[in-house]
Amino acid sequence: MIVLIGFMGAGKSTVGRLLAARLGLDFVDADAVIEAEQELRIPAIFEGYGEAGFRRIEAKTIAKLLTGPEVVLSLGGGAPASAEVRAALAGHQVVLLDIEFEEACRRVGGDSSRPMLTRPDLPEIYANRQKTYREAASVVVPAGGRKPDEVAAAVLDALSAGSGS
Ligand code: S3P
Repeated sequence: MIVLIGFMGAGKSTVGRLLAARLGLDFVDADAVIEAEQELRIPAIFEGYGEAGFRRIEAKTIAKLLTGPEVVLSLGGGAPASAEVRAALAGHQVVLLDIEFEEACRRVGGDSSRPMLTRPDLPEIYANRQKTYREAASVVVPAGGRKPDEVAAAVLDALSAGSGS
């Protein structure tokens, strides 16, 4: 299992699909699984259950996916802020796609499918998440200013360096 984490706009889904294709694995986006299982889009889940409700569903879904078949899995940007999710990630290959706040905002700014983008304290949220991302990650790959295929290649390099092969 290769798990991609990082802030909104880091390229987790795009890079995840490329990695999965190169490794001959399926790609799974945890947010897409949540939407399919709840039969609701993410903004509607936030509206109906609040952020806390979304986080509970998210943690459960991720725990289940992590015990499922070997895939490349991308998590929503807020998932590693949960201690429960970080505990479930222990022992997996977890790749942080590291992106500066300004570049992330340039990439996703104004996307109405991401309710967290309307939060006035988004810079603080970004700053607070950095520690939890690094706590959860086994490798950190810079994702800023690079094309998705370059990032995917860097992830494969970092993983093979980390596994000692
Ligand atoms: C969130 C990021 C989103 C999604 C939800 C909350 C966050 O995923 O899980 O809107 O708290 O950063 P992406 O990182 O794929 O945009």
